[in-house]
This record gives sequence, structure tokens and C-alpha cells, in this order.
Amino acid sequence: MTDVWQSAMDHAVSVARKAGSLVREAVQNEMKVMTKSSSVDLVTQTDQKVETLIILSVKDKFPTHRFIGEESVAAGEPCVLTDSPTWIIDPVDGTTNFVHGYPFVAVSIGFAVNKQLEFGVVYSCIEDKMYTGKKGKGAFCNGQPLQVSDQKEINQAIIATEFGSDRDPEVVERIFSSMRKILCLPVHGIRGVGTAATNMCLVASGCVEAYYEIGVHCWDVAAAAVIVSEAGGVLMDVEGGPFDLMSRRVVAANCRSIAERIVKEIDAFSPPRDDAPQ
Ligand code: IPD
Ligand code: CA
Repeated sequence: MTDVWQSAMDHAVSVARKAGSLVREAVQNEMKVMTKSSSVDLVTQTDQKVETLIILSVKDKFPTHRFIGEESVAAGEPCVLTDSPTWIIDPVDGTTNFVHGYPFVAVSIGFAVNKQLEFGVVYSCIEDKMYTGKKGKGAFCNGQPLQVSDQKEINQAIIATEFGSDRDPEVVERIFSSMRKILCLPVHGIRGVGTAATNMCLVASGCVEAYYEIGVHCWDVAAAAVIVSEAGGVLMDVEGGPFDLMSRRVVAANCRSIAERIVKEIDAFSPPRDDAPQ
């Protein structure tokens, strides 16, 4: 079968572009900032407006498809991945960046069928970079093919990670402990642009060897997971098992040996799963 889901992917690219221009315009304006799970987990009306725009536009074209969207879940919708075609949406990945005008904000749209990710679209809208990946068909940025770095030595690598939005002192301690160990391997540097999706696209682009984080959500990583794999990278759990989209834990790397080396240094913990019963 050739190019199954291509029309869905084309639609994802087109709606991500529309969503991105809305985000770009909104970044210039005054905004009302609200909070969700903690005082540093931010949300704005733009997050909600953009998610509604994406869902309505997809529903119009694919009325039987399902959705997992960051803001719909925050509003009480279930976060359960079934075998049905499902769009996994983060309308504004990097909401803290968006609020502060820090110039990395992405619209992230993943698509899964039978619980398998089929394609991902990440539009880094301030930079105007459209990243796409489709199972078996490669990964691209603005139409140019992506390939992960060929670096195999961790001590020649740049590793991306984030602090997330949990300020529980024990969680913060584990985050710092992992970072300290990885920094002192030593690696060339630790980076993080404030959006999980974009960090993963930087792995796919070859300028960062790996990204890891505990505390992400499925909508942060679904789309970019396809982009990383299709650029030749690997995905793994932070304890070395297979990547589990709902687990809120991810390692994305250019190669298995770097992923496994990072896993050895991570002080792992398990936040409540995205699909845990509410
Ligand atoms: C967050 C960003 C951030 C990551 C958090 C995510 P949001 O998403 O991707 O980089 O550290 O874990 O939740 O809240 O900006 O959509
Ligand atoms: Ca997000």
C-alpha cells in the first residue's frame, strides 16, 4: 500500500502552518496567562484557541478520527490511545517561551493508528521551520531531508534536556543529579530550547546528539518521535526499555550507544502516566 494517510499528513502540515501564524501574531500581543498543574505550568487563550482551530479543521475532513489534545485533556477529556486513527496535538509546545517571547515555540501534531505513530508534524513557527516525518518515508525540514549526527562518542556530544514544570524538591534534585552526571562524563554541552518537540527535531537535524526528559506528555513528543526515527535516530525509555508514548519519559538519540550511555546516568523516576485513570 503506498502513502496511506498522506492526505491526513498534508492536512496536518496545512493546519500546523495556519496555527503557527496565529501563534506568531499572538506573541506580539498582551496575553492573559493562567496556570494548570502548578504555578509554572502555564496556559493562555492562544493555546486553547489554536487547539480548537486544529481539531475543528481535522474533524471537518476526517469526522471519525479521534483526538488527544493538551488543552482538551486539561479540560477533562480522556487521554486514552485506542486503535482508532488518533491525532495527538500540542497546540503550543513551549508555552513558557511563548509567554516570555523566547523565540522557540512549536505546533506539534502526531498521528497514530492501531497505537502506532504514522506521521508527525512539528512547526517551529517563530523560526518558520516545518519538520515532518512519515513512517518509512523519511524526515524533512522545510522539504530538506534530515539525518541524525554520526557521532558515536558521548564525550563529543551535545545533549538536550529540560527542567520541566514540576518544582517538587525531590524531582528537582533528581533532574540536577542526572544533569550533573551527564555533564561530567564529560559532554561538550547541555542545551534545551524550552520545547520538547523542537529539542527532538534538533536531534533529527544532527546538531544535538540526544535529548532526554522525564515529565513530558504524549502531545509533546508524539510527532517528533516519528521525525527522530525517520532521521535515523533511536527512541528509548529512560531505563533502557522500549519507548512508551504514555509513560512521560523519553530518550531520543542519534544512536543506540549514546542513548544507552545516557540511560546509565539518569536518576529515573515515574510521574503518573498520561493514560492513568483519572
Ligand atoms: C513543555 C515543553 C517543555 C518541557 C515540558 C513540556 P508545554 O510543554 O515541551 O520543554 O520541559 O515537559 O510539558 O507546556 O510548553 O506545552
Ligand atoms: Ca507541550
